[in-house]
Amino acid sequence: MTKLKYYLRRFFYSLFVENFNKKIKYNWDSLPRRYDIINKIILKRKYISYLEIGCFKNENFNQINIDKKIGVDPVSGGNMTMTSDQFFKQNSLKFDIIFIDGLHVYDQVIKDIFNSIKILNQNGIILVHDCLPRKLWYQTPTRMSNTWNGDVWKAIVHCRTLENIDTYTCLADEGIGVIKVQKNNNLLKLKLSNFKQLKYKDYYLDRQNLMNIISSEKLINEIS
Ligand SMILES: C[S@@+](CC[C@H](N)C(=O)[O-])C[C@H]1O[C@@H](n2cnc3c(N)ncnc32)[C@H](O)[C@@H]1O
Repeated sequence: MTKLKYYLRRFFYSLFVENFNKKIKYNWDSLPRRYDIINKIILKRKYISYLEIGCFKNENFNQINIDKKIGVDPVSGGNMTMTSDQFFKQNSLKFDIIFIDGLHVYDQVIKDIFNSIKILNQNGIILVHDCLPRKLWYQTPTRMSNTWNGDVWKAIVHCRTLENIDTYTCLADEGIGVIKVQKNNNLLKLKLSNFKQLKYKDYYLDRQNLMNIISSEKLINEIS
């Protein structure tokens, strides 16, 4: 039933939105996991507070070694049962590191990023999961495949065009967006009124430039 639903959605998506079947061969199994990277950053920067948006089975949340951690999810995992919007509305705490991995659609992710910037401690860092989809079907705004990155990548492209934040994408674990609140060192000059217009083909052909992709070694080395 689910497969049939996915195939029907794909049929209409390829008719009315986009039909482009090139795949990217990222081999995530051979690269570090999200929690390894998060823990390395925590250790290097001596961070003490962590927020995770979207926890599911706590596969990542339980691996994070830090004094204070809050996990927000309306359905399962973490320690606060609510949506990210509800959390940000009532929250008065600040965090050193925030991992955004909730609802994987552009509108929600960009909102989660902007809300996270407001509660980030100085010298803090924001990470965003699922930024490097490997196929058209992994990045549709509605789910059409078991692996689902959603169109998170479009929120990263949007961030890349802003002057007061510096945004990268780390080549690991489905792509980890990295956002620092500092002058943009590699501003993307792209004028778009709506980043949702971007197509997977745009990303496929120009992803290095759009996403500012770096290795996990470079990311960790540059953290002081
Ligand atoms: C991909 S899973 C998270 C996986 C987890 N971070 C990990 O690394 O193992 C996404 C989670 O986001 C949650 N979610 C969906 N909408 C959300 C929202 N509006 N705010 C916060 N979490 C949300 C879902 O319930 C789901 O558990």
